[in-house]
Amino acid sequence: MFERLFGYFSKDLAMDLGTANTLIYLKGKGIVLNEPSVVAINQDTHQVIAVGHEARNIIGRHGQRIVTIRPLKDGVIADFEVTSVMIKSFLAKVLRRRQLVRPKLVVAVPTGITSVEKRAVIEAAEQAGARQIHLVEEPMAAAIGAGLPIDQPFGNMVVDIGGGTTEVAVISMFAVAYSESVRVAGDEANEAILRYVQRERQMIISEILAEHVKMKIGTAAPLDLPETMEITGKEILTGIPKTFTVTDEEIREAIKEPILSIVEAVKRALEKTPPDLAADIHEKGFWLAGGGALIRGLDKLLNQCTSLKVNIADDPLTAVVRGAGEVIDHLEHYRQVFIN
Ligand SMILES: Nc1ncnc2c1ncn2[C@@H]1O[C@H](COP(=O)(O)OP(=O)(O)OP(=O)(O)O)[C@@H](O)[C@H]1O
Ligand SMILES: [Mg+2]
Repeated sequence: MFERLFGYFSKDLAMDLGTANTLIYLKGKGIVLNEPSVVAINQDTHQVIAVGHEARNIIGRHGQRIVTIRPLKDGVIADFEVTSVMIKSFLAKVLRRRQLVRPKLVVAVPTGITSVEKRAVIEAAEQAGARQIHLVEEPMAAAIGAGLPIDQPFGNMVVDIGGGTTEVAVISMFAVAYSESVRVAGDEANEAILRYVQRERQMIISEILAEHVKMKIGTAAPLDLPETMEITGKEILTGIPKTFTVTDEEIREAIKEPILSIVEAVKRALEKTPPDLAADIHEKGFWLAGGGALIRGLDKLLNQCTSLKVNIADDPLTAVVRGAGEVIDHLEHYRQVFIN
């Protein structure tokens, strides 16, 4: 009875702890935080200068004393301490007012997270004031967020293309039946653009600009009408800033390799999926989630390479946190998906 009364006041949360972005869902309210997974630190004093948007805004624009860290780069927790600081800071933002009861929390984490990393996430969340912390694998949350019937004896396949990793998972009856994870996703595409511009145009551009280019004219399949973009970088030889134009065709060529790695990961998963589940996937196709799902023409390319129907989850960037939110909303129903 008390539990119920207090439960009414407590604001339970779900979090997508992504390598590029962290999102928080507040029960009964929806998504209340969506910020880059970046922390800025003063190297001399070890003080945290900024977290999230604020930290990302100073990347490439700060002095030598400050470092901007992406603590989850490459899909794993590369830096425990900083990850912990970041989790605490984000949770503190959404739990600003003092609460009567400590909230329950569901966290979506990369698949293949080690037990030490699990412990680190749980401890950080506890220190931030959460209780009853449950971990869910990202592709599981993505599948739930995409509205797939993961509770049924049916093969549901999702391809979550984030910043650090692409995770392919086949899910049936609350469990991951097969998964494949490669450390190639959005970040690799940015780096590929950077290298291409250096090699082919003898220009140096920032990673942030490379990402802009990818979002604006990056494609995985040819467009009906060609597109171009004017960008400014530094000429390698002289160091002088210069503006130049890149085409969609060049950028498609630039990101060809990471795109192919994603296609290969999907094909491998299909090869290794047990036959009955594969038949289900043949019937319904598979779903794309994560920011990488927004690369234009990727669905078309994947369709050409697999002959399967390719669906893009609604608002792919929020699919994981919405799925984790669905789990916190119906904790009992989803009990079997927890990995801790
Ligand atoms: N419109 C777009 N076109 C192409 N790429 C995009 C677009 N919007 C976002 N992205 C890319 O999506 C990636 C971030 O996606 P997302 O937020 O799903 O990753 P994440 O969940 O933080 O990472 P991970 O799942 O690997 O831990 C970034 O690399 C970003 O450049
Ligand atoms: Mg993700």
